[in-house]
Amino acid sequence: LPAMDGLNGSVVSEFVLLGLSGSWETNVTLTLTFSLLYLGIILGNLFIVFLVIVDSHLHSPMYFLLANLSFNDVGLSSTTVPRMISDLLKEHRVISFQSCMIQTCFIHAMGGTELVLLITMAFDRYAAICKPLHYLTIMSPKTCVLLIVMSWVMGVIHAMSQFTFVINLPFCGPNEIDSFCCDFPRIIQLACSDAVKFEFVVTANSGLLTTGTFFLLLLSYVFILVTVWKRSSGDLSKALGTLSAHITVVVLFFTPCIFIYLWPFPTSSVDKYMFIVDFAITPALNPVIYTLRNKDIKLAIQRLSKRGHHDRFCRLVYC
Ligand SMILES: *[C@@H]1O[C@H](CO)[C@@H](O)[C@H](O)[C@H]1NC(C)=O
Repeated sequence: LPAMDGLNGSVVSEFVLLGLSGSWETNVTLTLTFSLLYLGIILGNLFIVFLVIVDSHLHSPMYFLLANLSFNDVGLSSTTVPRMISDLLKEHRVISFQSCMIQTCFIHAMGGTELVLLITMAFDRYAAICKPLHYLTIMSPKTCVLLIVMSWVMGVIHAMSQFTFVINLPFCGPNEIDSFCCDFPRIIQLACSDAVKFEFVVTANSGLLTTGTFFLLLLSYVFILVTVWKRSSGDLSKALGTLSAHITVVVLFFTPCIFIYLWPFPTSSVDKYMFIVDFAITPALNPVIYTLRNKDIKLAIQRLSKRGHHDRFCRLVYC
């Protein structure tokens, strides 16, 4: 009799992540590329958090939400990218059952939080653009904190609701996952029985949630643009300037998600690459997208560098 590992009589106690495999040269190149990308994600996003905290001109709901999104992006890519990097140079990419479950839960908790934060940011833009006179009462500091706490709670609920289904599945082998991280659809595929039923649970939860949110967000941005268009008799340029960053980020984040979760049976390896987009590319692009065309952030960076010059000058002349 095979040894039971104590988790509901499952016999599989570890999974093998096939991940990205290529020649040794390819793997070294990928390791370097993803290490640089990950460094960029950490530095870029923490720089935004730092800027929003130290510059009092950025103390507004929009930038607090942006800082929280950046902070969450660091967490989101940390769930998968460091492990992917270290796996690239390994021969046997084994992950224990527990680590696999923990990784999956963190991915969904952080991913769910990201999703709710993006909705909150859209709501913030709606309030600022469509209800400018009531903006500061609608997005009061209290509401802001409440919305952020809510996004964390929703993220955890989203992860746990799927986890409770998956943890009860029996696993008797095979245990190879053709991806570089664990996720619910991949794990369910490996269950011995009843898998189809649970596949439906994940598709319904993650799949419909991401697709529904995506269209809701796009609709709300269209609604905001139509409101501006009516009010300013056809001049959209200013609103488009603010909203284009948000719309770009929403499309970048949701397209891979929909691909991964709405496909009921992940047989192609396309979704493996979609993961890379969501965990390594989008978090790296977010700081760039939000700072590149944003006047407030550019001014804040100028103020910061001036202050740096000033401090250095002061150290020289002892003031
Ligand atoms: C998140 O938002 C809250 C409330 O608006 C703010 O006080 C906090 O500094 C933000 N957190 C980060 C990491 O930026």
